[in-house]
Amino acid sequence: MTANAFQTTHGFTPEGEWAAPGRVNLIGEHTDYNDGFVMPFALPHTTHAAAARRDDGTLRLHSSAKPSHTVQLRIDDLEPGGIDNWAAYPAGVVWALRGAGHDAIRGADIHYDSTIPIGAGLSSSAALEVVTALALRDLYDLPLHPWQLARLCQRAENVFVGAPTGIMDQTASACCTKGHALFLDAQDLNHRQIPFDLAAEGLCLLVVDTRVKHTHSDGEYGQRRRGCEEGAAALGVNTLRDIPYEELDAALAELKDESVRRLIRHVVTENQRVERVVAALEAGDARGIGPLLTEGHMSLRDDFRVSCPELDLVVEVANETGALGARMTGGGFGGAAIVLVADGISDKVAEAITTRLPGARIFPAAPCAGAQRLR
Ligand code: GLA
Repeated sequence: MTANAFQTTHGFTPEGEWAAPGRVNLIGEHTDYNDGFVMPFALPHTTHAAAARRDDGTLRLHSSAKPSHTVQLRIDDLEPGGIDNWAAYPAGVVWALRGAGHDAIRGADIHYDSTIPIGAGLSSSAALEVVTALALRDLYDLPLHPWQLARLCQRAENVFVGAPTGIMDQTASACCTKGHALFLDAQDLNHRQIPFDLAAEGLCLLVVDTRVKHTHSDGEYGQRRRGCEEGAAALGVNTLRDIPYEELDAALAELKDESVRRLIRHVVTENQRVERVVAALEAGDARGIGPLLTEGHMSLRDDFRVSCPELDLVVEVANETGALGARMTGGGFGGAAIVLVADGISDKVAEAITTRLPGARIFPAAPCAGAQRLR
């Protein structure tokens, strides 16, 4: 379909077609930029790109979401902060790839289609970056593996777009595998693919998009990040990752500023929750992770303060209706929540949520494949 749209727009056949998924994060929120642990998995929702090389230094970008508009850019003129619409993400990727020495890239025509809800905290921007990076890697035969692509996409987002995000979303989109959650150490990208077969356990994971707008550029995300950095500096460590759970109380006792203490408490306890979720899943106890999800939500709500009333309502209603656990997922300030529930009552829980939050969009999700070439 994306290839057909490319053909209609450009009048010739693309050289290939690629897909990159959105993600939810099972547990490990606001830990990645503190060098901590995360555990995302890929969604069935994807962004597709059909693309072909150009050799005239031009990037022509087109999206089914804005059918009457073609973005045309000179790749030599790309500069951080220079583009203020969706095209900043793919243009940033071209800029980051060329900045890393891959100047074989001489241009491209790319058409995008996406089924990832935008602004829902499900990593539509990371998917747009990753699908672009993968297409360019293959078209120009660049010697880059998915982990390197993820890093370059993060650089595009941090420096070119100007959003100070961590490494989780790009890595999830590029490196997740079907049937697994990705246990990732953001410090060195050490990772394990953890089998997460919900159906086999009689479980269902609902994603609840509250449709409350989320955005990172608002400054709140950057503020939390700076607060964590201040906390680490005050404690004389590189990042909050360096504070073991067992030393949390002693570390907190050293600090006066209550808001910094709360940020630190969230990050340190959240890292420990990720390790407990991994242990439970590896022991075959998927049900056992429910309370940890809810505990993580409380910590994000009360200590890290990135939730919002709608996300809190979803978690409350889900748990009241018999869910095993629930939490907000992603950066917060709106966006989506996840609910872990026994198969038999998932309809009842979903109904209870939409009764209280009629605007919510709810779908079940199981771990899907990471980014790939389709043809
Ligand atoms: C956003 C960022 C990620 C991560 C999460 C919070 O999704 O892009 O890097 O920090 O927020 O866990």
